[in-house]
Amino acid sequence: MDLIEAIKGRRSARKYKPDPVPEETLQKVMEAVRWSPSWANTQCWEVIVVKDPKIKSELATALPKTNPALSSMLDAPIVIVLCGKKGVSGFKKGEAATVKGDWLMFDTGMAMQTLCLTAYSLGLGTVVVGMFDHKKAEEILGVPQNVEVVAITPLGYPATEGTAPKRKELSEFVFHDKYPGKE
Ligand SMILES: Cc1cc2nc3c(=O)[nH]c(=O)nc-3n(C[C@H](O)[C@H](O)[C@H](O)COP(=O)(O)O)c2cc1C
Repeated sequence: MDLIEAIKGRRSARKYKPDPVPEETLQKVMEAVRWSPSWANTQCWEVIVVKDPKIKSELATALPKTNPALSSMLDAPIVIVLCGKKGVSGFKKGEAATVKGDWLMFDTGMAMQTLCLTAYSLGLGTVVVGMFDHKKAEEILGVPQNVEVVAITPLGYPATEGTAPKRKELSEFVFHDKYPGKE
């Protein structure tokens, strides 16, 4: 699949078929994550692949009932929990190298985009889920103190085709030479 086609065609999938995902397809998705860029190649991401229906149900309780992705946590055959090791990305000799501090959100974000695009290219659906009780998810999954849960995505064959929400025009976010209004 052409890259631009994948970038534009991928949609958040919130309804899934119960069909299982072949192990080799899951491995292809994980292999792609492995090749994501990261701060000084620190690769702070860690991935928990949840297939146990009991753990999926428990994890679903960490989402507010208003989260539109809630049912997909139960329907999809796999739920991927993307974690980041703290104090690794953006650090040099234990000191933050920039004012941004820990870059784990950035690196795991890139890994998630790799995951979502690869999944889409293989016919699978995803939806990035960020709105949930992270502490509760960490407890359920037994995540240690030096690691944090960042985001979740169901992974499976989408049952419906989503429509694309409107995007901003380029003129609204691409500026030239300086920020608009600055001399
Ligand atoms: C960081 C992040 C957090 C998100 N959290 C949620 C969420 O909690 N629930 C949900 O249904 N969608 C969530 N989304 C999906 C967005 O709503 C979706 O990507 C956006 O509306 C654009 O639609 P598209 O993915 O189909 O292009 C999240 C997306 C991102 C990038």
